[in-house]
This record gives sequence, structure tokens and C-alpha cells, in this order.
Amino acid sequence: MATVLRVPWQGLVRLLLVVCVMPWAEGWKVLVVPMEGSHWLSMRDVVRELHSRGHQAVVLAPEVSLHIRGDDFFTLNSFSFPYTQEEYDNFFKECTLILQAQNILEIWFKTLRSMQKFFELYLTSCVQMLHNSTLISQLKASSFDVVLTDPVFPCGAVLALYLNIPAVFFLRGLAGGLDFEGTQCPQPLSYVPQWLTTYSDHMTFLQRVNNMVYPLGFNLLCHFGFSSYASMASELLQREVSVVDVLSHASVWLMRWDFVLEYPRPIMPNMVFIGGINCMSRKPSSQAVRGQPVFTYELEHLVVA
Ligand SMILES: *[C@@H]1O[C@H](CO)[C@@H](O)[C@H](O)[C@H]1NC(C)=O
Repeated sequence: MATVLRVPWQGLVRLLLVVCVMPWAEGWKVLVVPMEGSHWLSMRDVVRELHSRGHQAVVLAPEVSLHIRGDDFFTLNSFSFPYTQEEYDNFFKECTLILQAQNILEIWFKTLRSMQKFFELYLTSCVQMLHNSTLISQLKASSFDVVLTDPVFPCGAVLALYLNIPAVFFLRGLAGGLDFEGTQCPQPLSYVPQWLTTYSDHMTFLQRVNNMVYPLGFNLLCHFGFSSYASMASELLQREVSVVDVLSHASVWLMRWDFVLEYPRPIMPNMVFIGGINCMSRKPSSQAVRGQPVFTYELEHLVVA
């Protein structure tokens, strides 16, 4: 009797194991839509790791770029960019000249102007990419399982929504508290100090008031700045879509920060903290850095990433 019972049980357990493991044994097709500059450097490590685990990554990037070059662990799919490499490099060189400005007014003016140019640049190339029907048909036909994207400029986020593919965001944070809106994460302003305020989680009454008022203007500015992405998504999807709708399409938010450097705040279950990824490419610290406190050293790394 005992042997009769044991045989089907063993078979069942084996079948269950196979069923459970099967989805992970198969490689996924990942569409990667990165952001330029240092943002790409830590994402590249993730793509390399995905490749080593048997997943297939296609990186979709403009043909003109600072760091994004083809490699043997992903397929690079380039789309046209409205500027030449030389024009683009010169633009970055101009940005560094901001630091030589004479006064704060000049710094503000020049920073705003170059930010506006960045917005226009990436928006134009994003519009061209999303309106390229050949490219979009190719992407649709490739039937990707997931889109991995940096939403600092939400072009990849719009694309994921348009192709109706689950998205994973990879980011340090979004300007104007858009990350809180996208994740619907509560943000108690009485103890979560806002970006650039230099407040701590223990604020005086006036600081608390300022902590509430200060983000409002910034939030409006960001909604306004990203509204072009929302109109693009609305046009493609033929329905009214807001910036927050585009952002809340993400299933998982991989946050490139760590509570070692942050004040306590609520989080949502789909926010995963991967701050250590900024230090994946380690180098021995130089003599100058070795004298500094660890905090400053870590902070520099976070800012760079
Ligand atoms: C559209 O995409 C295809 C495929 O990636 C590419 O060959 C073509 O040059 C693109 N067209 C424009 C106008 O960017």
C-alpha cells in the first residue's frame, strides 16, 4: 500500500518542480532604453549581468552618444539623432563652462538655458524614434518580455506603455517628486526633507512650512517640462494620458540609493533599493580621497552615478 502511494507522489513532486523552475530557466528578452552619460555606466553592469544569466538584451539608443557603444553582451539598436557627434560633444563642453560664470545670476541663467536645450534635444530624438513606424513594427515583432529603462527623461517609459510591455525603472530619483507620484508613495512633508533644502528630519515649524511650499513650484515646473511626453503618449495611445500615468506603468522601481545616506521615509512594496550598484566598478581610493570622511567619499560616488 505504501509503495503504491509513494510512486505517484514522487512523480507529482518532480512535475511540480519542473513547472516552478520553467519560467526562470528560459531566457527573457529585455528591451533596454538607457539614459545618456553616467546613468548608462551602472545600467551597463546590469545588462552584463542579465546576459550572463542567459537573458537577451537589446539596447535602444540614439546613434550619437557620450558613452553608449556596442558590446558583445547586448545587441545595439540605434535610432537617428538630430545632431552630429561633434555638435553634441561641443554642447557638453559648453555646459562645463557654466562653472566659470561670474555670478549666481549668470549661473542660473546659463543652467536654465542648457537644461532647456537638453530637454529639446532628447525630446526631438524621442519623437523621431516613436514616430519611426519601421522601428516600432520591428520592436513589436520582437515581442519583448520587459522594458528596462531610466525614466529621468521618460522616453523609454512612453515606449513601454505604447508597446504594452511591463516596465522596470532604474533610477536615482525623479525631479519634482514625480517618483513619489508615479509610485503613489506617501511623502509626509513634516519629516521627509525635500531635495536641496538641506533640512534634516527634525525641522522647526518654519522649516516644515518651507518644506511644504518649496516643492510645489518645482513640481509644477516638472509637470510642465514633461507634459510633451504626456502629449506624445496621448497621441500614440489615442487617449488622455498624464505624466503620472506614464510613470505608474512601471511594475518595479529599482532605486539607486540607500538609507545609509537618506532620512527615514515610507516606501512602496515595488521599490527596491540597489544603491550599492553605484560602487560596482571599484577603484582604490586616491591619496586625496583617503583623507576625507567616508560619508563625503560615498556621496561623491552617488552624485557621479
Ligand atoms: C527608422 O528605423 C529604421 C530601423 O531601425 C532605420 O533603419 C531608419 O533609418 C529609421 N528612420 C529614421 C527616419 O530615423
